[in-house]
Amino acid sequence: MAKPSVCFVCLGNICRSPTAEGVFRHLLREAGLEDAVVVDSAGTAAYHAGESPDRRSTATARERGIVLEGQARRFEEGDFERFDYVVAMDKSNEQNLHRLAPDDAAEEKIHLLRDFDPDSPDGAEVPDPYYGGADGFTAVLDICLAGCAGLLAHIREEHGL
Ligand code: 4NP
Repeated sequence: MAKPSVCFVCLGNICRSPTAEGVFRHLLREAGLEDAVVVDSAGTAAYHAGESPDRRSTATARERGIVLEGQARRFEEGDFERFDYVVAMDKSNEQNLHRLAPDDAAEEKIHLLRDFDPDSPDGAEVPDPYYGGADGFTAVLDICLAGCAGLLAHIREEHGL
């Protein structure tokens, strides 16, 4: 069976989704599952395409021993064929993904990250930290840790990992 695959999606693909990607890889590594799941991230907008993750996100993650990598790219319709779980950071990204989804199979792959966190209320979002202060980046990291832990438990259960 093919490896399960996850793409985290925010707006710019420089703050929240690279953080979720780095956190998820970190949790996979801790679980000895780094080669068992394919992980990527993308943005619904292209204006930061080609850029590295935001310095503030990278610094906040590094304080916890989490490395952020990759270059920003836009999420494309074809990504629905490449990924099993398309995980949006907020409802606006989620709506944009639904607009892009070509069929029911694609629609069913779209989730909100915080819906995997049993301690978050239904429909909770990862707030956009871009125009705010350092606290916002710390909050994003903590929220991603909780959401990604829930997502990993879900994938382990669904795929027998
Ligand atoms: P992200 O954050 O969606 O978490 O990567 C943002 C990055 C850039 C902008 C907004 C949000 N921007 O407006 O340029």
